[in-house]
Amino acid sequence: MKISVLTGAGISAESGLKTFRDSNGLWEGHDVMEVASPQGFDKNPALVLDFYNQRRRQLLEVSPNKAHDALAQLESTHEVVVITQNVDDLHERAGSSRVVHLHGELLKARNVVSETSVQEWKNDILVGDVCENGHQLRPHIVWFGEAVPMMDVAINLVESSDIIMIIGTSMQVYPAASLLQYAKPHALIYFIDPNPAINPSERIRIYAENATTGVPKAISEINQLR
Ligand code: APR
Repeated sequence: MKISVLTGAGISAESGLKTFRDSNGLWEGHDVMEVASPQGFDKNPALVLDFYNQRRRQLLEVSPNKAHDALAQLESTHEVVVITQNVDDLHERAGSSRVVHLHGELLKARNVVSETSVQEWKNDILVGDVCENGHQLRPHIVWFGEAVPMMDVAINLVESSDIIMIIGTSMQVYPAASLLQYAKPHALIYFIDPNPAINPSERIRIYAENATTGVPKAISEINQLR
């Protein structure tokens, strides 16, 4: 069976990375438009680069958790694709081999001119760091107001899936939050989040708990489906 797994910041919370909208979340200490928008970058590039430098440095210190590991293991019995809103590489480090990043990747950089000039980048990015053509570098992240180029790929994947797992997302940011609407009528939906943003139904199974306990439980239920 084909499984699409939509993940948000909650799946990385138990690895030590802050979510955005929980209490003491990332957006509590920052104005989104100041640190995660093209306007903010134009106004104060150093502030925006520093926001992502701090998150990149922290990412290099943390590890995948049992939820990431369980999803990687799931590939041994099912056709799995992870469609993540997260910019961390914890799914990849856990061993997931098919990961679609809707909002970009923190360990990649590109220049301010071209979305396709992407390169691996694990260091800080500073004002004055330029690509080989002399253009300023920026994080390869989709900022608020910018296009989500992988959305069509994600929609096609969800439309062709028999099972949809949704893990650790408040379902408040579009277009990612609209993906659930593309599920096939008979697709089974497993929602894992301590504060679920949707209600259960005959085809939506809710695990109102942390990812590290909820994801393995949902997977053992899926493995009995055969
Ligand atoms: N296990 C599972 N879920 C958790 C855990 C946990 N241990 N801790 C918190 N959560 C849940 C919260 O209940 C919440 O529903 O994770 C979700 C986090 O929601 P947000 O902080 O809004 O993160 P997310 O949904 O990923 O945000 C989407 O918004 O700011 C933009 O680009 C950013 O990709 C991000 C997007």
